[in-house]
Amino acid sequence: MILHKPILFSAIQPSGNLTIGNYIGTMRYWSSMQENYDCLYCIADLHALTTAQKNRLNLKKSILDTLSLYLASGVDPNKSIIFIQSHVHEHSQLNWILNCFSEFSELFRMTQFKQKRKIAKNAIQKINTALFNYPILMAADILLYQTNIVPVGKDQKQHIELTRNIAHRFNSLYGDIFTLPESLISEYGSKIMSLLEPKKKMSKSDINKKNVIYLLDDMHSIIKKINNAVTDSEIPSKIYYDIENKPGISNLLEILSAITNQDITILLKELEGVMYSEFKKIVIDSISKFLYNLQKSYNNYRCDETYLKKIAYEGAIKAQFKSKKTLKRVYDILGIMTLN
Ligand code: TYM
Repeated sequence: MILHKPILFSAIQPSGNLTIGNYIGTMRYWSSMQENYDCLYCIADLHALTTAQKNRLNLKKSILDTLSLYLASGVDPNKSIIFIQSHVHEHSQLNWILNCFSEFSELFRMTQFKQKRKIAKNAIQKINTALFNYPILMAADILLYQTNIVPVGKDQKQHIELTRNIAHRFNSLYGDIFTLPESLISEYGSKIMSLLEPKKKMSKSDINKKNVIYLLDDMHSIIKKINNAVTDSEIPSKIYYDIENKPGISNLLEILSAITNQDITILLKELEGVMYSEFKKIVIDSISKFLYNLQKSYNNYRCDETYLKKIAYEGAIKAQFKSKKTLKRVYDILGIMTLN
C-alpha cells in the first residue's frame, strides 16, 4: 500500500519586492516541510494583477525574482512542485465555478478587502472587482490540489476559513469532492509589523520603504532602517515581549527570533540588561548575515533565466496533471460537457 504524504500548498503574490514578513510568516517553513509533505509552491501572478497597474509593476521581472527567492530559501524542484499560477489554467477555471458557490456577503466581510477598500477610498481611487473576488481565486488555488495544510501569515487566516466554507458548501451538495484545508499559523512571526509604525503590518505595497525590510535590501539600507525603527521611551530601557505596550521592541524580537531560530524566552535571557542601541546592533548583525546568505544564493539563480524558465515549465506540467483530476471531477459532477 502506498502511503501518501499530506499535501501542502503555499503561495506569494509577486506584487512587489518580497519582505522579511513574507519570509518569516511563511517561506521559512517551506524547505523543512518538503520532507514530510507533498508541497506545491505557487507564484500567484494572477493575484498580483489586481494591483499591478496601480503599482506600475514589471510583472515578468517580479515573477522571476520571486521564483529565485523560492529556490534560494531552500525549495528544491526535485522534491516540490514550484509553478506559476497563470501557467495552470485550471486555477482560473475552478475560480469561476467557485464564484457560483460563494456569497457576496461573506466576501464583503473579508477584513483585507475592507482595508484595501478604505485605503482606496481615502486616496479617491477606484478598486477593481478582482480585489473583491480575490479570496475565491485563493480558494481555487488550494482546493484544486486537495490540500491538507496551508502555511500562511495571520492576515490570510480569514481567507483559509472562507476556502473551507466554500468547500464545505460544495461538498454538502455534491459529496466529498474537496479536502477541507487547515491553515498553519505560527505563534510568533505570523504578523511582522512595520518598522516605523509597529501597530501596522509590514507590507510589500507600503509606500514608505522605511517601514519594510525587503529580502533584496542592501546592507546599508538594513542598517539605516533598523537604526530608525521605532522602539519606546521606557526608562530605564528594558527588553521584553509585550505586543500591546512595546510593539516596536516585540516586533524586533520576533524578527530576531525567527531568523536566528532561537526561542524568544532564550533570547530574552541573553538580552538582559542590554540597551536598545546595542539590541539594534544585534538585530542588524543577524539580519545582515541572514540576508547576505539568502542573496548570494538568490543571485546564482537569478542570473540563469533559462534554468528558471525550465523550473517553471516542469512545475506547471506537474501541477496541471494534479489539478486536472480535481477539475474533471468538478465538471463531471456539475454536468459540464467536455469534448472527450
Ligand atoms: P502575500 O503575497 O500578501 O503574502 C505571502 C505570505 O506572506 C505572509 N505575510 C506575512 N507574514 C507575516 N508578517 C507579515 N508582515 C506578512 N506579510 C505577508 C502572508 O500571510 C502570506 O502567507 N493571497 C496571498 C497569496 C496566495 C495564497 C494562495 C496563499 C494566493 N493564493 C493560496 C496561500 C494559499 C497573498 O497575497 O499573500
